[in-house]
Amino acid sequence: MVRRMHITECRTEDVVLLDEHLPSGGATSFHARRFARHTAGSSTYLVAWTDGFPVGNGEVRWNGCTAPEVRAVFADCPEINGLHVAEPLRGAGIGTALIRHAERLAVQRNTRKIGLGVDDHGNPRAARLYARLGYRPTVRYLDRWSYIDRDGIDHHVEDPCIFLVKDLTTDTPDAGGRRTQAS
Ligand SMILES: CC(C)(COP(=O)(O)OP(=O)(O)OC[C@H]1O[C@@H](n2cnc3c(N)ncnc32)[C@H](O)[C@@H]1OP(=O)(O)O)[C@@H](O)C(=O)NCCC(=O)NCCS
Repeated sequence: MVRRMHITECRTEDVVLLDEHLPSGGATSFHARRFARHTAGSSTYLVAWTDGFPVGNGEVRWNGCTAPEVRAVFADCPEINGLHVAEPLRGAGIGTALIRHAERLAVQRNTRKIGLGVDDHGNPRAARLYARLGYRPTVRYLDRWSYIDRDGIDHHVEDPCIFLVKDLTTDTPDAGGRRTQAS
């Protein structure tokens, strides 16, 4: 665990810091779009901080995954989305802490399940982390998203993903026996 790391819900003034320290590369702010959903109440946008700087982010979408393949089976399952940790700080438990924080918020809302999507083949490290935290594979789907690059070109992307779901009614230590410290 990174020392002095803590997690807060995103505030208006944090968006500029997120854009500066965790830039997304597109022409429009990834963080501003997520913060707009946060202020609208359809999601909670979490920010991990170390020494006053944002080092990670993750959004809990209370209305669930937007992919129709997932909605057909898990319409009421909140989704952790846009999980990202600053590259030099990966492997220090920040991703785990963001996920644990999201799970606690879901439990407070009396939600019995929470899910997240992971690239079907291309992100083994993230997949290992989610498996260890108790997320189990369910539905395969196409994650469809679009962005406008800095030259103004519109890109439409389709990533084959699998939706992983965790049962929040049986809170167990992480597989392997390690109980993850959450802030
Ligand atoms: C996926 C991601 C969010 C995980 O964040 P993270 O902060 O690295 O996650 P954690 O540190 O909690 O756990 C990941 C690894 O660190 C290790 N770890 C966790 N806590 C640790 C600790 N206290 N000490 C040492 N290692 C630790 C874990 O064992 C795991 O190792 P492994 O990859 O060998 O299995 C991050 O890698 C990332 O931003 N990736 C790019 C974006 C991305 O892929 N997002 C997910 C889309 S689905």
